[in-house]
Amino acid sequence: MKEKIDQVREDFLKDSSSVNNSDDLEKIRIKYFSRNGLYANLFEEFKSLPKEEKPKFGKLLNEEKKSAQSKFDELKKSIESQASKNTEYIDLTLPGKDRELGTLHVLTQTLNEIKSIFKGLGFSVYTGPEIESDENNFEMLNFPDDHPARDMQDTYFINDSFLLRTHTSPVQVRLMKNSKPPYRAIMPGRVYRNEAISAKSYCLFHQVEGLVIDTDVTFAELKGTLVYFAKQLFGEDVKYRFRSSFFPFTEPSAEVDIWWQPKGKEGKWLEILGCGMVDPNVLNNLNIDSEKYIGYAFGMGIERMAMLKYGIDDIRLFFDNDNRFLNQFK
Ligand code: DAH
Repeated sequence: MKEKIDQVREDFLKDSSSVNNSDDLEKIRIKYFSRNGLYANLFEEFKSLPKEEKPKFGKLLNEEKKSAQSKFDELKKSIESQASKNTEYIDLTLPGKDRELGTLHVLTQTLNEIKSIFKGLGFSVYTGPEIESDENNFEMLNFPDDHPARDMQDTYFINDSFLLRTHTSPVQVRLMKNSKPPYRAIMPGRVYRNEAISAKSYCLFHQVEGLVIDTDVTFAELKGTLVYFAKQLFGEDVKYRFRSSFFPFTEPSAEVDIWWQPKGKEGKWLEILGCGMVDPNVLNNLNIDSEKYIGYAFGMGIERMAMLKYGIDDIRLFFDNDNRFLNQFK
């Protein structure tokens, strides 16, 4: 019995060392592990052994078969993984994958357009920080501590003296603090207001500020500049009006409206910006001779401009970063 077991083991090792594919494997399975296979034969013979030899050979046979079986399983695995590798091939005729190009955010596009219009009029671009002092955001702009105009803006205060700027007007203050007149600059940037979020208002948005100061600036120049701007952005035949208004830092002050007529809807006047002649108090606060210098300022919301230009009806869309929205402005 012992010799027979040794012989089967030897044969099995020899056969399995020359397996190349699943056909060879199947032959081995039939030869050794099928119902009439060599291992089944050994167990058959085992039955006729004398009683006292059974324990010894029973154990040996079981171990032999188990080890052969596990060797076989390993072989099977390696043949299968070989086969799956062989079916992976590269089809060189397939078209390449499209690389999706990003696009400038619609707000950036709108700002770029606004910038280029004002650059054409000789304006330079100046910027300031989003965390501002109360002094620059309010005090210097002629908002005294208890001035009711402070209520117009719901401010995110950081502490008693610092806040997230509520408008870009403090950049005017920085420009005037840091250099001497004349000035002709626009100042774009992000601003913050603690407002209830809705389709119309968001806790942050973007503005473009403008400041022109020289010795001979007139309200007529202010009008001419802003009308030119509106025509460039909204088209030559845009209908507009100047409406008198109030800001602490300008006197007189005005707001500009344009006539808005979406297809199939009733038209209405919509405010696009605030403006005015710089209040002499602001110049005095900043040690600029208000007898010698005079100027105008204006401020507009970039979201507002984009919403009107592209017919966008919800300000939150600008901040969702939803590709279905963004991709419409490629
Ligand atoms: N700062 C104003 C606001 O946020 C906008 C504004 C109005 C700016 C008139 C100006 C201006 O420079 O002259 O509502």
